[in-house]
Amino acid sequence: MTSTTTATRASAADTARLLPAVLLPIIAGGVIKRRPPLMGLVGLLGGDERAVREITRLRDRYGDAPLALRVPGREVAVVLSPADVGALLAGTPDPFTPASTDKVGALKHFQPHAVLITRDERVRAKRRAANEKALDTGRPLHHLAEPIHRVVTEEAAALSGSTLDWDRFDATWQRVVRRIVLGDAARDDVRLTELLDRLRRTANWAWLAPRRPRLLSEFTERLRAHVARADPDTVAAGLSHGVDTEVDPVGQVPHWLFAFDAAGMAIMRTLAVLATHPDAAARAETDTGEPARLPFLRACVLDTLRLWPTTPAILRETTTQIWGLPENTTVLVFAPYFHRAVSNRFEPDLWLDGRAQSQPALVPFSGGPGQCPGRNLVLYTTSTMLAAMRTHREYELVGDHGLRDRTHLPGTLDNFHLEFRATAR
Ligand code: HEM
Repeated sequence: MTSTTTATRASAADTARLLPAVLLPIIAGGVIKRRPPLMGLVGLLGGDERAVREITRLRDRYGDAPLALRVPGREVAVVLSPADVGALLAGTPDPFTPASTDKVGALKHFQPHAVLITRDERVRAKRRAANEKALDTGRPLHHLAEPIHRVVTEEAAALSGSTLDWDRFDATWQRVVRRIVLGDAARDDVRLTELLDRLRRTANWAWLAPRRPRLLSEFTERLRAHVARADPDTVAAGLSHGVDTEVDPVGQVPHWLFAFDAAGMAIMRTLAVLATHPDAAARAETDTGEPARLPFLRACVLDTLRLWPTTPAILRETTTQIWGLPENTTVLVFAPYFHRAVSNRFEPDLWLDGRAQSQPALVPFSGGPGQCPGRNLVLYTTSTMLAAMRTHREYELVGDHGLRDRTHLPGTLDNFHLEFRATAR
């Protein structure tokens, strides 16, 4: 990769202002498994808004080039221009690997063979291909769209009670996820989800936490048994087994189960936005259309993920000297900075009229060869779930959550404390 980009270097004082603004809310909230009780603290720390202000200040001061920070014992740089975001992500996995030291430290606790933390390019390519095949990455509509639709509508119809809060929603959502990924036999295996959650809480501490081999092996054995008996109409059945031992097909599944959490957060946030944006809610009512189905609801989910990205910090690490940065430099794209520069309003039309596609830094699912291979599957399941939920009941948001000022939506939206009054239609 040839590049004319050259990084500039921030002063120690500017580094000292930026790092806590960006990192503290992310670390306090939980990088791998969110900590619901600490989400209030994230708000107090200024949430993403403070970090966006700090990055804006630095860009005004230093210009567009990537900014190398002065961190003792580490090389860290922040990307400041949309074009460089595009170039960075296009340069995956070489010269910019997604398997950064921090991600490896965290994710190895529960998914040591996941594609995302595979540094060896040859093995990474095989694991990426296995993921793309099972997740039908290239198709807007997964080949299992029909069985997925059946599962989602059944579970959504079973949601009862006059209120909906996170715990009630999440219990249903996790059932949906286990059924879609592993089959009906896994529907009530809450132990599997609990084990994964415990490993993920350990992963929040990354290299600082000791490995938990007994927990990991109990989780892996349970998962293996589900995958072995998975019906043909499950996502796990799309994994090819036994062909190539380097792939570890079952070892790809923990990432799927983990990442479907982000989809659940996006559903609850979209429900809240629709409850406070009647014009969008009315358009969603009339939403039907091939090939992707429910195009407007998909755009609503995408815009919720733009406003409140579930992966706010996209990390890469240089595999060689590039952009004037040494090998093994961690390069950070702080997505909210780029996403909010486009708009602070809810604007699903961005995703329908081609504007989003022309902006290299609108990256809720990352971009380039490391883009989320589950993107289309996520958009299909989340839009289907929202439509199914709203078919049976109306959801009225309890409280304000800052969503009623439609010209400037809040920097942080705590999905764990959203609550709705639900009435039958
Ligand atoms: C709202 C839901 C989701 C969002 C916003 C999302 C977003 C992302 C992002 C930003 C990345 C890049 C991470 C990085 O470079 O560090 C990523 C990677 C990945 N995602 Fe997702 N994801 C979601 C759900 C899912 C689901 C449900 C699956 C699987 C069923 C999935 C599978 C993957 C895989 C396998 C990777 C690693 C790709 C690679 O390294 O080549 N994601 N996702």
